[in-house]
Amino acid sequence: MADLNLPPNSKVQTGKTVAAADGATRKKRLKIYRWDPDSGENPRVDTYEIDLGKCGPMVLDAIIYIKNELDPTLTFRRSCREGICGSCAMNIDGKNTLACTKAIDDVKNDVAIYPLPHMPVLKDLVPDLNHFYAQYASIKPWLQAESAPPPDRERLQSKEDRDKLDGLYECILCACCSTSCPSYWWNGDRYLGPAALLQAYRWLVDSRDEATGERLDALEDPFRLYRCHTIMNCANTCPKGLNPAKAIAEIKKMMIDRTV
Ligand code: SF4
Ligand code: SF4
Ligand code: FES
Repeated sequence: MADLNLPPNSKVQTGKTVAAADGATRKKRLKIYRWDPDSGENPRVDTYEIDLGKCGPMVLDAIIYIKNELDPTLTFRRSCREGICGSCAMNIDGKNTLACTKAIDDVKNDVAIYPLPHMPVLKDLVPDLNHFYAQYASIKPWLQAESAPPPDRERLQSKEDRDKLDGLYECILCACCSTSCPSYWWNGDRYLGPAALLQAYRWLVDSRDEATGERLDALEDPFRLYRCHTIMNCANTCPKGLNPAKAIAEIKKMMIDRTV
């Protein structure tokens, strides 16, 4: 019979509590997942009480405040702090999102912060995204064309063809969608997941690309594409408001269209 308990060294324990400084008037508690592979210890959840008057309004501001003022060992990724780079993706208040665009005030109770789910954790809030990026690379996310480009300018698109890329080109590869997808949790080794498939569709519908047949051939596989069961977690969680499930459905339609 399958053992559904976590192994002892994976059980998350209660960690330390750091209280806000005396005089704090607007207090908020952040409960943050911590794990240091070098310590040999179990993961834990540390509680940091902060004074909201001391930091900016977003969850990322609070985490940066904690790192700068309370605990320099806290480890996380971030870069642009404006929802463009995708590096601060994490699970906040039970939902995958970007820490830099998630307002602290949107979380009514304590702010629970965990790394993106179902990914190996490198340290604290940093997941290992190597496999995710390798899957992205596998869809060949660049323009493929045999024909020579115009000698004097770039390859042009009609306005209508360019419009087809809306809702696709905005993807920042944050991985919030793929790591919220149950099919990806169970079959992430072979199922490409919503992020890579949305990107695949972005190139399939690009009027300048000439590798549509090869791209579809590469997706024609019981796992790579067809593990999507339209559960829609991906669209619900995307912090950019995109709909990977719709893109996946469009790829499936293209597969059918080319057989009739
Ligand atoms: S589709 Fe949305 S959630 Fe998925 S990787 Fe792109 S921006 Fe992130
Ligand atoms: S719609 Fe498909 S890709 Fe999106 S969460 Fe569901 S199974 Fe995953
Ligand atoms: S820091 Fe770049 S998206 Fe949040």
